Amino acid sequence: MQVIETIRALQLLSEAERGAGQTIALVPTMGALHEGHLALVDAARARADRVWVSIFVNPTQFNEPSDLDAYPRQLATDLAACRERGVDVVFHPSVEEMYPDGAQTVVTVRELSQPLCGASRPGHFDGVTTIVSKLLLAAKPHVAVFGEKDYQQLAIIRRMVSDLGFDVEIDGVPTVREPDRVALSSRNVRLSDASRAQACVLVAALDAAERAVTAGETSIERLLFLVRNEIGKAPLARIDYVELRDPDSLSAVTEITDRAALLALAVGFPAKDGDSESIRLIDNRVLRPARGHVD
Ligand code: PAJ
Repeated sequence: MQVIETIRALQLLSEAERGAGQTIALVPTMGALHEGHLALVDAARARADRVWVSIFVNPTQFNEPSDLDAYPRQLATDLAACRERGVDVVFHPSVEEMYPDGAQTVVTVRELSQPLCGASRPGHFDGVTTIVSKLLLAAKPHVAVFGEKDYQQLAIIRRMVSDLGFDVEIDGVPTVREPDRVALSSRNVRLSDASRAQACVLVAALDAAERAVTAGETSIERLLFLVRNEIGKAPLARIDYVELRDPDSLSAVTEITDRAALLALAVGFPAKDGDSESIRLIDNRVLRPARGHVD
């Protein structure tokens, strides 16, 4: 496994691999790798001859300097996990390499970046789209793989790739979960024990909404009430948002009719002792209306 630290070296390797007829799949990450990230590696392996992983804690997508500082960094463990999973190349650039002095170019996907996590974290998605653009230009992969756990991020990246004509295919991979079905996240380790125990309320709320829609519920108001009520069963949970949106445009939906709707949740929980911040967890599900249901 090769570890590469500069954009130029990665571009040269990409040109050489492409010249030799090899296909490349890139998995962009911020490290602290868990089975969710490694599922993307497996998906990448199924899609291309070469699997490349980038590990870069991207400062421009953090709203709070304290969140950036607290982000787990464990390069040696990550490299071992990549090696074990058969990754061919890890790209691990410095901040100066990705953001040279005086950098002032930002990629913005305007409307899709506004709602949901974009409303709670202003500027976050500009940081994501800018770094993902730079990673695609550095690696020039045939395929880039992202998790459906970050549904809005995936939708924004698909839009960006289509708008800017990036010559890459974007693949989405279903969310990998813990045994209690909490979505795997590098943030989970920062939860207090009580918070971690109550975190399964997110997936329970998604299940409740799905059951209701399958049973014919079409009212957004009643669904949102049901979901908020379910989350309210966890005394430590603080709702950031609970929203139903169009799965493609992310615009607000007024009723679940014949089209699917995205149910997206963000919920804060108290952190472990000594960490004053609230830890924000997200999860989502695309709800498909009951077939042939008549009101
Ligand atoms: P990071 O949070 O490290 O996630 C890297 C990729 O892993 C993302 O595509 C994310 O959706 C996916 N992922 C995380 N948890 C997952 C899970 N439980 N199941 C399946 N996939 C999961 O997302 C980022 O980094 C950054 O924003 C990045 C795209 C790398 C840009 O900096």
